[in-house]
Amino acid sequence: MTIPETLTQNQPDRSAAADYRGKRVVISGGSSGIGLGIAQHLAALGAQVAILGRTQDKLDAATASIIAAGGHAAGFSVDVRDAAKVAETLAACREQHGEIDALIAAAAGNFFVPAAKMSANAFKTVIDIDLVGTFNVFSAALPLLRKPGASLIAITAPQAQRAMPLQAHACAAKAGIDMLVKCLALEWGALGVRVNAVSPGPIADTEGLSKLSASPEIETFVREATALKRFGKAEDIAQAVAFLCSAQAGYVTGSILDCDGGMRLGNFHSP
Ligand code: HXC
Ligand code: NAP
Repeated sequence: MTIPETLTQNQPDRSAAADYRGKRVVISGGSSGIGLGIAQHLAALGAQVAILGRTQDKLDAATASIIAAGGHAAGFSVDVRDAAKVAETLAACREQHGEIDALIAAAAGNFFVPAAKMSANAFKTVIDIDLVGTFNVFSAALPLLRKPGASLIAITAPQAQRAMPLQAHACAAKAGIDMLVKCLALEWGALGVRVNAVSPGPIADTEGLSKLSASPEIETFVREATALKRFGKAEDIAQAVAFLCSAQAGYVTGSILDCDGGMRLGNFHSP
């Protein structure tokens, strides 16, 4: 089939979109699951990546996987709930590797519990890791970013848009992240910083999905609740992040990019 000439004109330079050489990218929660997929993908595109997480063994395995594939990676052990330590860690990262081009906030904690049985500390724990943690890494990164042109990306979830049973803490935290992204985009745009979010649906082979899919029946129910009738891959989320951090998305800020197979549309009825 011949592609009409009108469709081949004025197309963006895709080779530039895939080129992260010389870029420095920080991923909090980059030592497993979706965050690791993002780190591996951006490193394969040429970025020098720094990964933040609590567990040193996970950081070592994650950086080793990237280095073995020919990429550049370093790991930093820190809890995103500790604002002072986050600022210290990102300053050390800046000192060792230079100004930061992009930071992706993917760290999160989750468990399923009825709201009536949720302790105040259980609620606070998830708000602190997801929402406060995202604010901590974004605000600590702000003075260390290469401006103009830097990008901040939060990893949110369909729970920000749709109420879900047993998820009051995560729904509240992710809804807070969506609004935080919009507020920071508004305030920091003039500084040359774009702030966006990616909202993954159920992603295969992740901690998040295994917590959600307590039985094969629930796993089938979750898959059927997507419009595409399949789970996504960490690579799908990494592609969305790579686009949002690229020059091709240079006029995109304050946006939530749904990369969820249509999960947020709420196809929760029986077939
Ligand atoms: C009820 C629970 C609980 C559970 C913990 N708590 N687990 N309550 N049911 N299953 C309560 C504890 O009793 C305590 O409250 C409070 O939460 C803090 O627990 P700690 O164990 O002290 O917290 P901490 O050591 O900081 O660990 C945080 C964690 C843990 C969230 C509990 O699971 C973690 O570190 N998770 C990181 C990995 C993760 O969850 N990944 C999945 C992300 S997926 P009290 O009152 O007793 O002191 C995701 C979205 C998925 O975010 C979307 C799917 C579609
Ligand atoms: P995961 O594998 O459990 O990854 C969580 C990452 O965050 C790990 O690197 C973890 O390392 C780190 N982390 C957790 N708590 C931390 C803390 N307090 N301080 C610093 N680092 C911390 O989870 P995932 O399922 O891939 O989820 C990744 C992101 O995608 C989360 O934001 C999640 O809400 C979102 N999401 C996931 C799905 C899904 O289907 N999986 C769907 C929608 C949204 P340590 O434990 O060593 O700290």
